[in-house]
Amino acid sequence: MADDSHRAQSAKFWDDAATENAAWYVATGYTEESAAFFEQGAHETDFFLGFCGVVVEPTDVVLEIGAGVGRMTKRLAALGERVIASDISAEMLSRAEVNLAEMSNVDYVVVPGDGSLPAVQSGSVDVVFSYIVLQHVPAREDQVRYLSEAIRALAPGGRLAIQVRATGVKTVLHEWAGFAAHLVRGRKTLSKAWRGAKIPKAQILALGADDVTVELRRHNVRHTWVVANRAK
Ligand SMILES: C[S@@+](CC[C@H](N)C(=O)[O-])C[C@H]1O[C@@H](n2cnc3c(N)ncnc32)[C@H](O)[C@@H]1O
Repeated sequence: MADDSHRAQSAKFWDDAATENAAWYVATGYTEESAAFFEQGAHETDFFLGFCGVVVEPTDVVLEIGAGVGRMTKRLAALGERVIASDISAEMLSRAEVNLAEMSNVDYVVVPGDGSLPAVQSGSVDVVFSYIVLQHVPAREDQVRYLSEAIRALAPGGRLAIQVRATGVKTVLHEWAGFAAHLVRGRKTLSKAWRGAKIPKAQILALGADDVTVELRRHNVRHTWVVANRAK
C-alpha cells in the first residue's frame, strides 16, 4: 500500500470497536470483560505458549503485540517479570489499564501499527507473544515489519510466538463464512481493518538468520503460528 491511511483507519476501527463492545471484538464468544473472559484468555495463553514450545520464566521481559483490553496480558504478567503491552488502539489499552489495575508490572504502549516498535530496544525482550492481531493488519508489509521488528527485539535466548492467518482455499472459505456470520449480527467484519492480509510462508521463513531459527506451526484451518528462537 502506497500511503498510510489504512493505519489511521485501523486505529479508528479498533478505537470504535473498543467503545462499541471491546470484549466481542477481542474474543467473539464474549460481550463482557468478565471473569470468564479473562479465564479463557489465561487458558489460551498457556495453551498457545505450550503449542509453540515457549516457556515464560519469572525473570522474563515479555512484549505482547496487540494486547487489546488485557485478556492475555493478565496471564503473561503473572508468568513474567514485566510485560510491554502494545496496541494500535489507545482506547483498547486504556481499558486494559483499568482491567489490570492490580498488576504493577505492565507498561502500556500505543504503537503506530505499521509494524515498527520504536519504543523497544534491540535485544531487550525475552519473549514476544501475539494472538489474533496480525490477521487483522491490512498491509502485508506491515505484518512482515512486525515479525522482523519482533525478532530484532529478541535478547540472546529469546523466544517468539506470533499467530498469523493460515493460507489455502479452505482457509479463505472458512474465513468468509465467519465474516458473513458476524456481519448478519451487526458487527463490522467486512472492514479491511478486520479482514487483514496473508503473508506467503516463504517470506516469513526468510526472516531467519544465522542466530535466529524461524518455523511455522499450523494450528487449525485459520491459524498458523510463527515460532522463532534466538541463539543464547
Ligand atoms: C482481536 S483483538 C485481540 C487482542 C488480544 N490479542 C487478545 O487475544 O485478547 C486484536 C487487537 O489487535 C489490535 N491491533 C489491530 N491492528 C493492530 C496493529 N496494526 N498494531 C497493533 N495492534 C493492532 C487491536 O486494537 C486489538 O486490540
